[in-house]
Amino acid sequence: MRSDVSLRPLDENLLQELLAAAAADADPVEVMPPVAGPGGWTDERREAFLRFHRSRSLCAEPVESTYAVVVGETVVGAARLFPLTDARRAVEAGVWIGRSYRGGGVGRAVLRGLVDLARAGGAERLFASTTAGNMAVRRLLAELGAEPACDGGDEVTAWVDLADG
Ligand SMILES: CC(C)(COP(=O)(O)OP(=O)(O)OC[C@H]1O[C@@H](n2cnc3c(N)ncnc32)[C@H](O)[C@@H]1OP(=O)(O)O)[C@@H](O)C(=O)NCCC(=O)NCCS
Repeated sequence: MRSDVSLRPLDENLLQELLAAAAADADPVEVMPPVAGPGGWTDERREAFLRFHRSRSLCAEPVESTYAVVVGETVVGAARLFPLTDARRAVEAGVWIGRSYRGGGVGRAVLRGLVDLARAGGAERLFASTTAGNMAVRRLLAELGAEPACDGGDEVTAWVDLADG
């Protein structure tokens, strides 16, 4: 397991670094909700990225906890834990890593870190959803003991029991 990967609670400074990392090294569709208009990292999309994180994590009543994924001292992605109100003591996990850092074990370290944070926060189960073709996430979730379920369409969901381990 990589020891140079850390999860730092998002703040305004890290948010600016996160936007720079996303714009340089990821596709908008991988890292934020869709925004109408021309593709790519337009000014509108950059603003929407900042608004998105501020409204979810950096406001007076955050709806989820977001972390900058830091390798060494470089922000390379984001991870989040979203409490699921309709499922007792469960959180939803999400993560993206910049293209040039993928495939090197960063995602594995992030998911382990999210499991530790979720457990420390009192969660008993961790939920994740992805597309059927996202073999990297599916592999990482399977390593955590999740049993992925297909909905018959393109979505795969998985639950990790945090009581294990
Ligand atoms: C998904 C994501 C977070 C994974 O992060 P990562 O740093 O690339 O992941 P890691 O390198 O730690 O591990 C990926 C594992 O999946 C494996 N993998 C990748 N593609 C695979 C494929 N097509 N089939 C089987 N295994 C695959 C890798 O080989 C690796 O396992 P290994 O170390 O045993 O070889 C990253 O690719 C990403 O940010 N993608 C875009 C956004 C996204 O899809 N987010 C997830 C939404 S739920």
